[in-house]
Amino acid sequence: MERKIILPESEIPRNWYNILSDLPSPLDPVLHPATGKPISPKDLGAIFPEPLIEQEMAADRWIKIPDEILEKYCLWRPTPLRRAISLEKILDTPARIYYKDESVSPPGSHKPNTAIPQAYYNKVSGTKKICTETGAGQWGSALAFACSLYGLECEVFMVRVSYDQKPYRRIMMETWGATCIPSPSNKTETGKTILAESPDSPGSLGIAISEAIEAAVTQEGTKYALGSVLNHVLLHQTIIGLEAKKQMELIGEFPDVVIGCAGGGSNFGGLALPYVEEKINGKNISIIAVEPASCPTITRGAYAYDFGDTAKKTPLLPMHTLGHSFIPAPLHAGGLRYHGMAPIISKLVVEGLIEAKSVNQLDTFAAGIRWARSEGYIPAPETNHAIAAVIEEAKLAREEGKEKVILFTWSGHGLLDMAAYQAYLAGQLTNYTLPDDDIKAAIEALSDLPKPGGKS
Ligand SMILES: Cc1ncc(COP(=O)(O)O)c(C=O)c1O
Repeated sequence: MERKIILPESEIPRNWYNILSDLPSPLDPVLHPATGKPISPKDLGAIFPEPLIEQEMAADRWIKIPDEILEKYCLWRPTPLRRAISLEKILDTPARIYYKDESVSPPGSHKPNTAIPQAYYNKVSGTKKICTETGAGQWGSALAFACSLYGLECEVFMVRVSYDQKPYRRIMMETWGATCIPSPSNKTETGKTILAESPDSPGSLGIAISEAIEAAVTQEGTKYALGSVLNHVLLHQTIIGLEAKKQMELIGEFPDVVIGCAGGGSNFGGLALPYVEEKINGKNISIIAVEPASCPTITRGAYAYDFGDTAKKTPLLPMHTLGHSFIPAPLHAGGLRYHGMAPIISKLVVEGLIEAKSVNQLDTFAAGIRWARSEGYIPAPETNHAIAAVIEEAKLAREEGKEKVILFTWSGHGLLDMAAYQAYLAGQLTNYTLPDDDIKAAIEALSDLPKPGGKS
């Protein structure tokens, strides 16, 4: 019984997998926010470099990973595939639980899998500075790290509540040479307007995205980068699933259940998309995205066109959404506090190829503590959502007496999230389930926008 399956660097995948070539029906087009017409590559050129725009719309199944990126990936990739044998024993389950450990990257999560290519393609396109937003601080620190490797400036708008909860994430960003600003801020017109209305705003990813885009378009030589949601981000993250497939093959395993926590959908998609291809080709796999009960984008949101940000600066994306005006409760899994979901993940839900469930905050921390006391590693609060679902599946396997194989993304470590664990251990955390009326009101606000052609 192997506890870890390690691939040599020579086995790192040389291509990313592009699910756009295999979807049962094409994605609804992204629309221009002013005209409501499908957006052109030229429109996107104000905020993204050309190679990333090409990847956003690419038709090829496989996209070559440049050597300059592979060389940086190999700082920490291939990541280990581990088996959670101690947890299996404690749960007395016949299930075999495997996890892809994405916490071994320098910033501690899966986020550098896309930060590195985004910084690289910006660098070769002549960009001098990249602006972005961050929720938990994982994405901001990943981009700060990637920019430092390629000699780019980096400016990060960090959601106020996380900025206060996680000072060490800010210091990491600064250590890698980035500037980190709490959002809403007085640096942008959007931030000023929000602060004038609510000076104590906890912020949200939607607000921080508006600020970062505004900062990017108003500064010379500057572009914007998004850490999740978009097609090119999920494309880069497929390295997780492609490596996992090789590692599972090495030990003769194939998953019955694939699980990941979902904020914007990138770590979940990264592991799941190569398995969605298998499912499209006839394999029987349950593929489950797990989200917080306080921000239930897929499980209780609508499949609709919506803006990616609060100030309505982004194009309209066809996605599951709680409405761009939605400000989630300040739960500790900051990276899961986003009103929208990746269009690719949303489409796969509509097509019935993947499913979603939501978990309460207290259950996620109970799962994380159980994990830490059996497997040793302390997970990020976001990752705890996946672990809670894994434990549920393993218990189900016990009840059914089935030898299921469960595979999930261990998206990040929680070593900089000790304040959240402290609050949980002191009994200070609570659950928060969104009232139906709040969701209804936020979604009704979308009724004037165009509707995607798919089912809702
Ligand atoms: C550790 C960790 N896991 C998961 C997520 C959720 O993001 P995504 O759904 O894009 O993977 C984040 C976001 O910051 C994160 O930091």
